[in-house]
Amino acid sequence: MSQEEEAAIAGLAELLDAALTLAGTRANADAIGASIESRDAQVASIISNNEDRDLDTETSCTGIDAGGSSRDAGPAATVPSIYSYSSSSSGESDDEDSYAASASSSDSEADYARAAWQGPPPPLKVYEPLLPVGAKTLLGNCESTLGAIANMVAQGKARRIVVMAGAGISTDAGIPDFRSPNTGLYDNLQQFNLPHPEAIFSIDYFRRNPKPFYVLAKELYPGQYVPTQSHFFVKLLAQKGLLLRHYTQNIDCLERAAGIDPELIVEAHGSFHTAHCIGRKCRKEYSQDWVREQIFLDAIPRCDKCGSLVKPDITFFGEGLPARFFELLAQDFDECDLLIVMGTSLLVQPFASLIDKVGPLVPRLLINRERVGEAKVPGLGFDFDGCNAQTIHRDAFVAGDSDEACALLAGRLGWLEELAGLRKMHVAMQGEK
Ligand code: OAD
Ligand code: ZN
Repeated sequence: MSQEEEAAIAGLAELLDAALTLAGTRANADAIGASIESRDAQVASIISNNEDRDLDTETSCTGIDAGGSSRDAGPAATVPSIYSYSSSSSGESDDEDSYAASASSSDSEADYARAAWQGPPPPLKVYEPLLPVGAKTLLGNCESTLGAIANMVAQGKARRIVVMAGAGISTDAGIPDFRSPNTGLYDNLQQFNLPHPEAIFSIDYFRRNPKPFYVLAKELYPGQYVPTQSHFFVKLLAQKGLLLRHYTQNIDCLERAAGIDPELIVEAHGSFHTAHCIGRKCRKEYSQDWVREQIFLDAIPRCDKCGSLVKPDITFFGEGLPARFFELLAQDFDECDLLIVMGTSLLVQPFASLIDKVGPLVPRLLINRERVGEAKVPGLGFDFDGCNAQTIHRDAFVAGDSDEACALLAGRLGWLEELAGLRKMHVAMQGEK
């Protein structure tokens, strides 16, 4: 590719980036939710031969390298063999064994945190920017940006916390995320011969070929995984009356499994909890138990009234988000006084644009293995480096494993024992069942 072509593509990508972010941010609740869209897919359709776009591009501002990219963050997470390409021969069963062994009943918190890893997890790094001269920050007067956020909670300055979560908070439970190179679900779907990985969650593709989704659904089905420390941390926030709402893109129902009050959860991309016939005129509701039985019999669930497919109420690409998402977001993000974003690439709209819906003086904390959500348009997206002089620096970034970061935060708040207790109680209750 020539230099001019490269420059043209970079310019186009930049424009698209700005336009997408603007579209998400300016839109009102009605407009932003026409349907779920992946930024990857949008970029791919405009730029042919597009390689994965990395939002983690250098900023023009001075800053210390966070070193938090998933590509260099340490050893890769083990993919449970159910998601692996089954033709691979060497080491496959070893992976499965080590996964099964580490995810078994050991109660050591350290073992638990390492459950989905081969070897030690990547080191956790609290990113400390060198702010431009004269920049004002909400996160100063403390030894670290994370410390500043912990102090806000401890001092009662953050009492209406909104959490936004993605697949990264469930990887330590053994569920792969979507887009991490090699270990993510989208790199491990070859057996299904999909036209592109996201087709497995595309409503058009599903109508023509539902089998791949149901095979995957069997593996992901709720009830087979234990919530992670990150889920229990959110539960702890709720227990302390500090959680305004937990917005999750995850369909694994691990928030519910962790005991978080469903009233406090918004499952932005739906979940397995309910199911409907997809016949446009029918829409008959089916129970989770019935769908589960069908899926575990390897049958394709079909409506007894009209014969159409019955699909768990997971929001597929091309479908609208649940009404509850739109009903709650305006008030929640207005009232929010601390935003915590964990384990998401922030590549799917309209969810990604929510980070800009909190007030301009509301601190935002990203806990993720890689830097994400940094917009190139001033005022939109995270600004960890305080580059946008007209706004006050209020974004903190912790690079690494969300379980570890939650433990660190809980430690700063003196909540570690309670956090461990929640998990122990959950495991004990599961044992009794
Ligand atoms: P992605 O796979 O796109 O992003 C997960 C992010 O979490 C990545 O940035 C990882 O680096 C990071 N990560 C992984 N494990 C982590 C850990 N233990 N601690 C901290 N960070 C970790 O997943 P989502 O952003 O959730 O849509 O994807 C959004 C949507 O795209 C999903 O809801 C799904 C998918 O297509 C539907 O199913 C409709
Ligand atoms: Zn029907």
